[in-house]
Amino acid sequence: MKRWNIFEFIDFPWFPSIFRDPMTDAMYALHRIFRTYRVWTQRIADVLKKTGYRSIIDLGSGSGGPAIILNEKLGSIHSLSISTTLTDLFPNKTSVESVNASNNPRIRYFKRSVDATNVPKEFDGIRTMIGCFHHMNPSLARRILENAFLSRKPICIFEITENSLLALLFGVLLTPIIFVLTPFFLKSKPSIIFILVMPVVAIIGLWDMLMSFPRTYSPEDLRELTNDLKSEDYLWDIGSSRRWLIRMPYLIGMPQK
Ligand SMILES: C[S@@+](CC[C@H](N)C(=O)[O-])C[C@H]1O[C@@H](n2cnc3c(N)ncnc32)[C@H](O)[C@@H]1O
Repeated sequence: MKRWNIFEFIDFPWFPSIFRDPMTDAMYALHRIFRTYRVWTQRIADVLKKTGYRSIIDLGSGSGGPAIILNEKLGSIHSLSISTTLTDLFPNKTSVESVNASNNPRIRYFKRSVDATNVPKEFDGIRTMIGCFHHMNPSLARRILENAFLSRKPICIFEITENSLLALLFGVLLTPIIFVLTPFFLKSKPSIIFILVMPVVAIIGLWDMLMSFPRTYSPEDLRELTNDLKSEDYLWDIGSSRRWLIRMPYLIGMPQK
């Protein structure tokens, strides 16, 4: 497997939410700035249309950024009115409160921990994982795919990073821009605590951001993970989409009618 198994701070259960939450907020800013939705909205709309599902269970939501943007774009571009449930192993408390207090009934953030390797049965819908699959080591990654496969649920995994030197260099250039712009994308005004922790977040975030590149599963890695999950009634579509200088891998698992 090409993927490097190195750590990111955000994966440690002890990593304090005072740092974790601004880091997932920075991810939200990144998705808005670089309009990453263009990579996955069409493909997810196709899965919704083919399967007939009208609900999305987003796993590893963090601040909820890409799934919230996806919900908006599915409505505005594809005229699909979808209900989205955001979930995370470590839900971002501020986002849970702000999303659930908002007057958009189509998006809710489930406040208890949800592990993507064992999604509870009551969460019925298309599973999405956007920009977070590389956080799972191969054994967890395999369990996530197996869980979707065995329960015959559609799963759409999209990364915004690529395991290549060129993509990594692009990431080095982007990271400072993202952290400078993040405060402008917050749902509420940045607090004093947020401003005080920002320099530490920028250093830790730089590490995490850069490590995301070599940790990303290539399409070949994704094929290896699904090698023995084969059935006539469940098919995998694996590939990559180019955006800027990055070829962003994706994997779609879909039950066949
Ligand atoms: C980089 S963040 C991505 C968040 C979001 N998808 C985005 O792009 O803004 C990765 C998220 O995966 C979550 N995570 C890690 N392991 C998980 C697991 N086993 N199940 C669910 N979420 C997990 C982390 O808590 C973190 O919020």
